Amino acid sequence: MNLKDLYINYFIEKGHKQIPSAPVVPENDPSVLFNTAGMQPLIPYLMGKEHPYGTRLVDYQKCVRTNDLDNIGDNYHHTFFEMLGNWSLGDYFKEESIEYSFGFLTEVLNMPVDKLAVTIFKGNDLIKRDEVSRNKWLSLGISEKHIAETEDDNFWIAGETGPCGSDTEIFYFRSNDPVPVEFDPEDERWVEIWNNVFMEFEKHSDGTITELPKKNVDTGMGYERVVAILDGVNDNYKSSIWKNTIEKIEAISGKSYLGNEKSMRIIADHLRCAVFISADNSGIKPSNTDQGYILRRLIRRAIRHAKNLGIDINSNWEEEIALTIISEYKKYYSELVDNKDVVLDVLKNEKIKFNRTLEKGLKEFEKMISNINDNKLNKDDAFKLYDTYGFPIELTIELSKERNIEVDVEGFKEKFKAHQELSRQGSSEKFKGGLASTGEKETKYHTATHLLNAALKIVVGPDVHQKGSNITNERMRFDFSCDHKLSDEEKQRAEELVNNWIKEDLKVIVTEMSKEDAIKSGAECMFIEKYPDTVTVYSIGDVSRELCGGPHVSSTGCLGTFKIKKEEASSAGVRRIKAVLE
Ligand code: SER
Repeated sequence: MNLKDLYINYFIEKGHKQIPSAPVVPENDPSVLFNTAGMQPLIPYLMGKEHPYGTRLVDYQKCVRTNDLDNIGDNYHHTFFEMLGNWSLGDYFKEESIEYSFGFLTEVLNMPVDKLAVTIFKGNDLIKRDEVSRNKWLSLGISEKHIAETEDDNFWIAGETGPCGSDTEIFYFRSNDPVPVEFDPEDERWVEIWNNVFMEFEKHSDGTITELPKKNVDTGMGYERVVAILDGVNDNYKSSIWKNTIEKIEAISGKSYLGNEKSMRIIADHLRCAVFISADNSGIKPSNTDQGYILRRLIRRAIRHAKNLGIDINSNWEEEIALTIISEYKKYYSELVDNKDVVLDVLKNEKIKFNRTLEKGLKEFEKMISNINDNKLNKDDAFKLYDTYGFPIELTIELSKERNIEVDVEGFKEKFKAHQELSRQGSSEKFKGGLASTGEKETKYHTATHLLNAALKIVVGPDVHQKGSNITNERMRFDFSCDHKLSDEEKQRAEELVNNWIKEDLKVIVTEMSKEDAIKSGAECMFIEKYPDTVTVYSIGDVSRELCGGPHVSSTGCLGTFKIKKEEASSAGVRRIKAVLE
């Protein structure tokens, strides 16, 4: 039976209720990009809110940690991983929790007691040494020399503030060497497999600690590591979890895992993580910010390593690997099946995008490093690789590291920031710059944006103003000031207005005038102070006048049918509409 099922069943027998895995992108927590631990979605309940499922919970939770992304390639780091967790919300505490963990490991998984060791909290000025846990472990047969104490490593908190407490960590001796009499947590043959946190406190932003209304237990077990132990392998990627995926990569590349571990691990790990992120209902797509940037980096790094292995990037290699991963996990995560097409599209589109410039970028990189003499890649080169060839800075760093070259990362960051400032300025420069390379479809969307802006002023009111816009050749996104969620009637009415104006085939006319005259004429604009003294104003029939750098279609008849796909909150007082032209 799969470890996940064994775990869930064991805790259900002990009176726990199974809760579903939360999405990898937290739903109501803008402070983190991804769920990094099983407890994250449970924070409100650990703080005292009543959980609808009761006081004993169990689950398997998908997690993403990208802080040590650059360690991927060794034998046990992963960006995506699953955590098995059980919780007591003001129910049982230390002794019972330890008993359950010990029972599961030794009775269900049949782990020999002498291969287990634990750490407990040593105590400090604020909180006493954890004698209760220590005595419990001793009573269960863990030898005294297999109990170590630490202060820092045995106090758990998710970030800077929130629920926290001392913990006891369980280690397994993953090696064929004889088990040492004395346990040393720093010895890498001892692998941490489970962490039982006894949450009694809440840490506040001023550094103070107060007691929680209830004492809770939060445990997390690393699924990958335990499976590797049960499979008797010292390399996570050799476990049953990865068997099919690694074999697939071997078949596609015609190379064997042995000797190509690093690239194969990176491809396997990064694509699995990308599959899970893009299958999430939050709809993350590769981009240059936040979760989208992580997704982009994962896919691009996987592509680069696929190239290292000699895989034909233009073949559908990424799809084959993704499908293998999906079939491995579909029993436990139905969203992988529901959103399969989205996942495959995300991977393919990003591949196509990166592929266009990867080859040239690598050549450019070679040229750059052949011209340097101090083993340093300067900020301009690093920025060019980013801006022109789509190399995430981390990729440039990695490539450079392979050649013992240092990158001026700080300089890059400064340039990057300056570039962002420039593109944030809503001046006509922005529109010119941003749209200089616009295709026919983007131009149509640009005109549709003006029509939608005008329609919303009629439907919602004259106080509606544009707050942002983002156009691709597939859709438009329009942010506007508005204090309420649009009703279905409002959306329908706005759609109708735009479509009527399209049918009327209104002429789009561009005129140049002084900024003053433009304002007097009532032209709409986003950041008036950013505009030069002479501005261009686009008028569409007599329904819309906006300061804008263009380009636009010459008359609206060619736009097709306008459809609002989604209306949602963007930030406080700002709504966002996603729409398409069909
Ligand atoms: N929150 C703890 C951890 O992540 C136990 O679940 O290790």
